[in-house]
This record gives sequence, C-alpha cells and structure tokens, in this order.
Amino acid sequence: MRILFIGDVFGRTGRDLVRAGIPVLTSRYAIDAVIANVENAASGAGITRETGDALLKCGVDVMTTGNHVWDRREALTYLGAEPRLLRPLNMASAAPGRGAFVARLADGRPIGVINAMGRVFMPPVDNPFEAVAAAVDRLSRECRVIVVDIHAEATAEKIAMGWHLDGRVAAVLGTHTHVQTADARVLPGGTAYVTDVGMTGPHDSIIGMERAGVLSRFVTGLPTRMEPASENPRLQAVVIDADERTGLARDIVRLDWSEKDLAGARRAGDDEQPL
Ligand code: FE2
Repeated sequence: MRILFIGDVFGRTGRDLVRAGIPVLTSRYAIDAVIANVENAASGAGITRETGDALLKCGVDVMTTGNHVWDRREALTYLGAEPRLLRPLNMASAAPGRGAFVARLADGRPIGVINAMGRVFMPPVDNPFEAVAAAVDRLSRECRVIVVDIHAEATAEKIAMGWHLDGRVAAVLGTHTHVQTADARVLPGGTAYVTDVGMTGPHDSIIGMERAGVLSRFVTGLPTRMEPASENPRLQAVVIDADERTGLARDIVRLDWSEKDLAGARRAGDDEQPL
C-alpha cells in the first residue's frame, strides 16, 4: 500500500497545492491513501467545515491536526460530525472528536491513522507514548497498516516516538514545525520515520505567515498583526510503501515540489515512477 502524507497544509496557498498535487502525485507514485495535516488549513490557523470538506473532495482520506485544532469555533462541531478529521488523542477525553480512525479505501482495504501531540514546548496534554501504544493495540485488531502523526516541537520527542513504535506501525511522521527534516528512513524494526514532513504552503514566509509582521514582533517585542503569506508555494510530503501482510514499511521518500514542478509533471504525463 502506497501512502501519501502531506505536511501541514497552510491557508489557501496550501489548499491550492493539495488540489493540484494529489492527482499528479497519485499517478506518479501509485498512491492508495492520502493523509494530510490540516491544522492550519483555514487562513493559517485552524480548520473549518468548508476548508476540510474541500480537502476531502480533493482526495484526502484522513485529516490530522494538532495544537491549532480549536482555533476556529466551528471545529468543535465539525470534529464531532466528521470521523475522517482527527484531533490529538492525548487531549482531554471531554474534547469532541477522536484521535484514531480506521479508514476504508475504495476497494475496502483498511488503514489506521493515529494523531498524537508532544508535550515538550507544547500546551499540556496526556502522555503521548502511553496513549499511542494503547491506540496501536486497539487499531491492530482491525487493520495491519497504521500511520502515526506525532505533532510536536522537539526533535528528540519525535525521534523517541519513532523508536517507541519501531516494528509496531508502518510509519511515525512528525509534523508541526513546518520545516522538513532530511532524516527520512526506515528504522531497523521496519517503521518508516521522519522528524518533520514539512509545510505545504508559502515558503517565502516565516513558517507560513508574512515575514514583515513576524519579523517586527521579533525585533521590537511588540504585538503585531500576522497575515498568511502566499509566495513560493511548495508541497512537502512523504510517500510510504507499506507491506500489507506485515504492516511494516518497505521505503519512505521525501517530496518537496514547487508549483512549477507539479505543472511540469502534469504536462509530462502520468508515467509511474519507482520510489
Ligand atoms: Fe502545530
């Protein structure tokens, strides 16, 4: 099973990249399932029903989030109503929504997705290591292939999660920093891992926002208004090739595509490429 995991989709720029990118990448890499982190999909902060439904329509099968999940009030009802939208599972149990889900592909094959949030330099949540291990045990009864989104700031915490789950899930993928890391690999036990998938959005920015406002906040220490940027759109993602018999990964590759790359691939046709 080939899985495309799209890194933090940021604002309109990110949503446009998802719409343009899914058909191109699906034919090029023979993708079976698409997962995207969407916690910044609505104007760079949070998720709304309109933006979420539009992403599902583009071919996203499961959406994950993180600390920005509640930035839009309507996410409270949207999360309760849309099982394909996850919030970190180690939040309070009273919070709406869920942090783990088994999706069915068009041909009926199951894929499990777990969304957790780290605790280092992040808002307080329950222990993600215990919560994820319990969810893996639960989901394993329904599906072999499981992908974990660990939404966290600290590289060490994400790397620790990779080793914690090595040999038990197909992939442990870091999100949240919006900066793609160069450490994608399959760990010795067979779990694909990357510390951060990166950002699908405007890269001539400060992690998605227009530079001037953020820079002035750093320079002057005064509060400023921040607006989503739009320059240099890039789609950052990983593709995982998972063995459905073992539930483990054969390979993981990092993608970092500009709008021009996507348009060029579309013009060149649909030749399937090896990973
Ligand atoms: Fe985040």
